[in-house]
Amino acid sequence: MTPSDAPDLDGMTRDEAGRRIEQLRGELRRHEHAYYVLDRPEISDAAYDALFKDLLGLERAFPDLVTPDSPTQRVGGGVLPSFPEVRHLAPMISLESITDPDEVRRFDERIRKALPNARVSYLVEPKFDGLSIEAVYINGQLDRVSTRGDGEWGEGITKNVKTIRSVPLRLHAGPDAPVPAVLAARGEAIMHARDFERLNRDLEQEGKALFANPRNAAAGSVRQLDPRITARRRLDVFFYDLLHAEDAVPVATALDELRVLGEWGLRIAPEARDCETIEDVFAYHREMESRRDSLGYEIDGIVVKLADLSARLRLGTTARHPRWALAFKFAPREQKTIIRGISVQVGRTGVLTPVADLEPVEIGGVTVARATLHNREEMKRKNLHVGDRVRVVRAGDVIPDIVERIGPSGAVPEADFVMPAECPSCGTPVVHEGPFDRCPNGLECPAQLKGAIQHFGSRDALDIRGLGERTVDELVSSGLVKSVADLFALMAEPLKALEGFADLSARNLVDAIRAANKPTLARFIYALGIPQVGTETARDLAQHFGSVERIEHANEDDLMAVSGVGEAVARAIATFFAQAENRRIIERCLEAGVQPIAPDRPAVGGVLAGKTVVFTGTLEMPRAQAEERVRRHGGRPTSSVSKSTDYLVAGEDAGSKLQKAKKLGVPVLTEGEFLKMLEGER
Ligand code: IVH
Repeated sequence: MTPSDAPDLDGMTRDEAGRRIEQLRGELRRHEHAYYVLDRPEISDAAYDALFKDLLGLERAFPDLVTPDSPTQRVGGGVLPSFPEVRHLAPMISLESITDPDEVRRFDERIRKALPNARVSYLVEPKFDGLSIEAVYINGQLDRVSTRGDGEWGEGITKNVKTIRSVPLRLHAGPDAPVPAVLAARGEAIMHARDFERLNRDLEQEGKALFANPRNAAAGSVRQLDPRITARRRLDVFFYDLLHAEDAVPVATALDELRVLGEWGLRIAPEARDCETIEDVFAYHREMESRRDSLGYEIDGIVVKLADLSARLRLGTTARHPRWALAFKFAPREQKTIIRGISVQVGRTGVLTPVADLEPVEIGGVTVARATLHNREEMKRKNLHVGDRVRVVRAGDVIPDIVERIGPSGAVPEADFVMPAECPSCGTPVVHEGPFDRCPNGLECPAQLKGAIQHFGSRDALDIRGLGERTVDELVSSGLVKSVADLFALMAEPLKALEGFADLSARNLVDAIRAANKPTLARFIYALGIPQVGTETARDLAQHFGSVERIEHANEDDLMAVSGVGEAVARAIATFFAQAENRRIIERCLEAGVQPIAPDRPAVGGVLAGKTVVFTGTLEMPRAQAEERVRRHGGRPTSSVSKSTDYLVAGEDAGSKLQKAKKLGVPVLTEGEFLKMLEGER
């Protein structure tokens, strides 16, 4: 038998598989672009995963058909020994940074004087606060990515950047932009505020050092020797500059250049704009500064670039910066102030967190009066005491942080701070755990109970709107809620008696809690607040075990079989479930009607266990839902019919797949018959 007609598991020849593989890759690339670059998903996550699994299956059967730009190749290979040095295709120069508007005016005047006959206009866009990178595509394939380094040589971070889903592994051919032979594009790798907060929350929970801001977190994440870590951090890249292109259609202006980058499938700033006058530039600067907090990622100014690309060449560069562009920064969101006192908060895990009470200062339009000091070790590292003068930063909506001590203030007597020996909330003696001080009183401690309830309703957990700090305070202090399970028994009537509640708000809260009673299993596990279990571990546990009961009954060895769960995490999970109180709370949640939804994994023993099912024609239910059901009952939805297909479910107007199934003797079901078959199972 020759390789070209060797049948694979689905009875396909190599040629058939090759065609199907290309088709699947094309579809997956289109959906990645729609989802990660344009923020306009076209199919459900489950449907995407199904296509992905099909491709993975075919590539496993025909490993020689795997190419480096296949969507399956984002996370691959092992841990790197170090980062290779990479020479940039074109030098990566930096911009002059300016905060003074008068200097911006002088920049404009200089340009207009140097180009007396030209119509001067500027391309303006956000100045992303991340890490500058160069991505090189050869014949449309992502070849290498490097950090800026010294501008000429950078560090090769290709494997890590390949895990960033908004970075295409292969360029698209745009309607007016065929793929160039060689392209070097410059962009900024950033971390979204939401992912940054999640990362720091997870790091804090694991007792690891935190990142001071999203930029450091992005830089730290692309410089991981294990690309799987980068993949989990969910970075993003915005491209803004074409460093070098060979065999590309010529473009005349900066806006055209951006449009072409966009057509090739690279993510560009949707806020980019053309400004005719320097007054327009100022207006844009004001506008972006006011939108700064709502973008979801950090920008630290705007970049102003002469639009006319040929005029740029005439202006040239100075020794260090181009004469045709500048970075017009925002006032820093950083201030100097004084630590007036230090108080201690008790979080949901019982950890005592020192918080600095600051001499109030305005930072970027917000008054800051408190900043977290994290823990004893961080305070020691930064050498902080009451009475110190300190530098404070506020990044987006993130909690303000003290960057460093400047020295004693003289305004307040200097005093060393000593962590209390007893929990400030319940008086229980604290225990020392590494850098942390912890109250061991668990849910008996009011502060921990409040924290647990707030965490339960938080965005990555059950996402219950209206369950903020003040409400939770009221619920716990009034005695209405003694554990998270009590939330589901809440009625509107007694709530109305609480401070800050009226008819409508009481009803809204009850409705919001009810509406949250079908979380994914991963969210439910995360919501339980198991020590050391962040969102990632929760997802891994859900995927591996498929139900709360199975996790409850797992021993440490079973738990360590989950990828990413080590000894310490396994012990923390086992200890959590060994406590009768925790098991009782879970049981009461389930009794109260909470139904965690299991992820797509073969349910052992489902009617479709190990079976492949293909759908064709128009179905009553959405296709993604039909596929989800197959998975929930243990089967695998696939998209093409072969000898090994177990069932074809045919809707209205079924065509060639139906013919093929009949020819191959594959059992054909109507949608009704399919649903009947699943009856009796969950
Ligand atoms: S243009 C020669 N545009 O800001 C022009 N730079 O020194 C190349 N940056 O580290 C830079 N956002 O990486 C440009 N929209 C943007 C940018 C941007 C962020 C970074 C750049 C560099 C610094 C400027």
